[in-house]
This record gives sequence, C-alpha cells and structure tokens, in this order.
Amino acid sequence: MAESIGRGVGILHVHPTRGCNLQCVHCYSESAPAEKLAIPLDVLQRAVVDAAAEGYKVLSVSGGEPLLYKPLSRLLASALDAGLSTSIVTNGMLIDRRRAAELARVVDLAAFSLDGRPDLHNEMRGSRHAWEGMLRGMRALRDAGGKIGFVLTLTNRSVADIGWAAALARDEGARLLQIHPLEQSGRAVSQLRGEEPSSETLALAWLAKTALQGRLGSELEIQLDVVEADQLSTNVCALYADEAEPNLNAPLAELISPLVITETAEVLPLQYDYPQSLGLGSLHNASLKELGRRFVQKNYSVFLRACRRAFREMSEPSPFPFYNWYRVVDAALKVESGCEPAEARVALPVWNNFA
Ligand SMILES: C[S@@+](CC[C@H](N)C(=O)[O-])C[C@H]1O[C@@H](n2cnc3c(N)ncnc32)[C@H](O)[C@@H]1O
Repeated sequence: MAESIGRGVGILHVHPTRGCNLQCVHCYSESAPAEKLAIPLDVLQRAVVDAAAEGYKVLSVSGGEPLLYKPLSRLLASALDAGLSTSIVTNGMLIDRRRAAELARVVDLAAFSLDGRPDLHNEMRGSRHAWEGMLRGMRALRDAGGKIGFVLTLTNRSVADIGWAAALARDEGARLLQIHPLEQSGRAVSQLRGEEPSSETLALAWLAKTALQGRLGSELEIQLDVVEADQLSTNVCALYADEAEPNLNAPLAELISPLVITETAEVLPLQYDYPQSLGLGSLHNASLKELGRRFVQKNYSVFLRACRRAFREMSEPSPFPFYNWYRVVDAALKVESGCEPAEARVALPVWNNFA
C-alpha cells in the first residue's frame, strides 16, 4: 500500500494562501491570481509547534502557490526548529536563483507538480509557459543543492505518461515520484468531469508503478496513492478500520494523519475538502492542541465510522479492486454523517461505470 496514506505517516499539510500565479482547471482549492487571503505567520508558527508536540513529523506546504506566501521561508524555518521535516508542493514557476538559494536552506524536499507530458501539463495549468517555468525553477532549486521530487496528477489521460514521468524524474535527479489520483473537487467538478481515474486506470497505474519500481530500484522512489484490495488485511490499522476502542489520549498524529490547515485556518482531517462541520475547527478560535482534544470528543467517532465503512466497501469483491482511499472515505463520510441515505452504497468507481 502507498506509504503516504493513513495512520503513522504524521503529515501536516498547510495551505497558507489560495493566491496562485496559475488557475489550473483541476484545482481542488480553486486557487487563482485574484485570491489574496493568507493565514498570519504567527498563527501557523504556533500550530507547527503544537503539531510537533502532537507527534507530526512532516510539514508540507501547498496552496495556492506556496512561493506567493510571503513568510514561507520563516514558516519552514520554524518547522525545522520544532523538529519537523519540511516539504513544499509547487508549480516551480516563481523559483529564480535567489529564491532557490533561500529555499534550499529550509526545504528538505520540494515536490514539483506534473500533470502529464508538456502539452497536457500546459493545458491543465491554463498556461503556455507552465512546463518551461516548472523545469527552470526545478533545476534552479536542484542546482542550489535542494532535494527535488515530482507529483503527478493521475487522470484517465495522464496514466499513459507514468513511464515518461518516471524517466524524467530519474534523469533530473529527483528522489521521489508521487502519483496522486485526480479528485472530483473544486474546479475539477465543473471543468474535468469524467477525468477522475476509473478503477481500470488505477489498476493500470498500479501495474506501471510495480514494473517501474522493479526496474528503477533505489534510483527513484515511486509512491502511488492507491490502495489495492489484497493489501487491505495487513493495513487495517493504517486505514483506521480496526474495531478496537481508540486511545483518545494518544498524540493527535496517531489519531489523524494527514491533518490539513486551510487558508481560512480551518483544521481538517485527511484532505482539503473534508466537511468543515465535521472537522476540528478554526485556529482563529483555539490552539491546534485544544482543537484536537475537542475533535476526539465530538467528531472523531464519525471519522472512524467512515473509515470502517470505506474499508468494508473496499473489501467487497470487484474485478478491479484498486481504490483512491481518500475518495472512498469521503463517500462513506457522507453516508455516516447523514448527508446521504444510510442505504446508499459508497460510490466506488466500478469497472462497469467506465464511460
Ligand atoms: C493545489 S496545488 C498547490 C500547489 C502549487 N500551486 C502547485 O501547483 O503545485 C497542489 C497539488 O494538488 C494537485 N491538485 C490540484 N487539484 C487537484 C485535484 N482536483 N485532484 C488531485 N490533485 C489536485 C496539483 O496538481 C498539485 O500537485
């Protein structure tokens, strides 16, 4: 199973702003150049210290475009001081030599977003310059001594580019290629209908990843954020699906990972579009530690029920048993929280739905 999923990973994802130099057609946060809202640095610095005390190990800064968050380097430096590793997810276009040198001192891994080969990348990003700009920024950071990786958004089109992306990553000296399925959220809902990977696409991605990892060995780590049914039984705990009574006094990182902070300072389990009413609350009202305590008393049981429902759904026989866990939990959450009728089956992307 993908090492980047579930309990034990200990990732804090921060989206400090929705400001972006691009307006990608698939953007789950609908980030854009006109968006200006950003979280004050001191709010995030306190959250990062609390997160470290709660057992989180990695701060990952995304957005919006993290390079447009003015105090980015200070935020990353605070995370390092608190004992966290640091990473950013970026479109790379705003990294020149000066910013590369600055970032190389405070970022343990910079992940550059890829949406497929250059034409597809530019199309998804709505800019003829996105590809060239990404390459330029990536090389500037790498040449300044920064460690680099790539994140490929998996769609029914980009699945054909996985081998190409792995070769690019290896040739450019990347440590990691992460492959993450497109989610139907934000702008993707209206602008990329039908592009969410089908279960056949997830199966193809799985085969490609397995073959490439065998060939590339330790040259490049490939992480595919897809769960395959055969591995469910050994990952019951990682997917929060064990029936044991949870220890609610455990550090928050053992109870929820990833943990997300949005640009409005809302703290949410798992992902950016987790329903706010079922989340932890706002950092403008209480500390991360306090929000965590309230969450385990109030909303944690719904989270666990959704994870267990998702697990049962994924355990059902299926001709292509490959799943985007986040999506399955999201659907299960709608049922468990009463937004959808209890008899509704989790809307898995099954093979016979393939249009
Ligand atoms: C929202 S962007 C923000 C960071 C930065 N501006 C960038 O482009 O990398 C973070 C990552 O999420 C990916 N992404 C955006 N919308 C998505 C969606 N609907 N489903 C899956 N991944 C998505 C992007 O391709 C990018 O790799």
